[in-house]
Amino acid sequence: MNAQVDSRPRGQETRTAPATSAGQAAQLDIRPFDSALGAEVMGLDLSRPVAPDDFKRIHQAHLDHHVLVFRDQRITPQQHVDFSRRFGPLQIHVLKNFQLQHHPEILIVSNIKENGEPIGLGDAGYFWHSDLSYKDKPSLGSLLHAQELPNEGGDTLFANQHTAWDTLPEALKTLVADLRAEHSYLAKYEELRARSPWRPKLTQAQIDEVKPVVHPVVRTHPENGRKALFVSEHFTTRIVGLPEDESRAVLAELFAHTSAPSLVYRHAWRPHDLVFWDNRSVTHLAAGTPDHLRRKLYRTTIEGDTPF
Ligand code: SIN
Repeated sequence: MNAQVDSRPRGQETRTAPATSAGQAAQLDIRPFDSALGAEVMGLDLSRPVAPDDFKRIHQAHLDHHVLVFRDQRITPQQHVDFSRRFGPLQIHVLKNFQLQHHPEILIVSNIKENGEPIGLGDAGYFWHSDLSYKDKPSLGSLLHAQELPNEGGDTLFANQHTAWDTLPEALKTLVADLRAEHSYLAKYEELRARSPWRPKLTQAQIDEVKPVVHPVVRTHPENGRKALFVSEHFTTRIVGLPEDESRAVLAELFAHTSAPSLVYRHAWRPHDLVFWDNRSVTHLAAGTPDHLRRKLYRTTIEGDTPF
């Protein structure tokens, strides 16, 4: 399990004058963390309209820092959905039993059981992954909003995949630069199902909805132009064109490299945090919650591009 990291903002990066009448009169600050990635967005209340200029700065900060933390956001599920939609169309998770009622775009991530039944996906994030990388169009980004938090555990770790690429040993860079890998939702499904109550048996329609896909091992971010490694222990099953044992060995090396502690920001959740990450730049992992403590968050995912 990975690492560390200080999430205290390391200083004010930018500041706006009070916003125009189109938005809220806040002073928007974006404060990068003293970490491998991530920044805190201060001075913004997402239950109120976000002015176009502020939205532009949030968008740019997301491209620059890859994980944005908005503290103390008292927003409704509809406001969560509406803000997410400003970045693109939303995706509906294949596990429809964990949709929030009246909000199919929201996946409940929770270890809570009510009347003996899980109310959400309790093991989302058990393995390092990029959300929905098993789709033709994986997620651009995800927004996770804290509803109920344990008083111990429950952190989420984010690893910077641009830096993972930049720091990959040259020989491995040359080997994987033009390779493609298969991603499958089913890769770890049975393993997770065997150890937890959160994975129902999938119907044939669900299996058909998540057919394996092939993506480049190294993708180019469509907005910031930077390269990033795009493999994960949860969903990447094999490298196309390599013998099975070589594919396994290369993936093992990549998985270890992509989650190295030096690449990681560890988010310790506070009440009403909203965290917005870029699935094209980072992988993430749920560090785990003690079984006897309750944790519930709401997640939206925004559709991205076909990786290239
Ligand atoms: C996820 O993988 O989207 C959930 C992460 C978490 O529960 O911390």
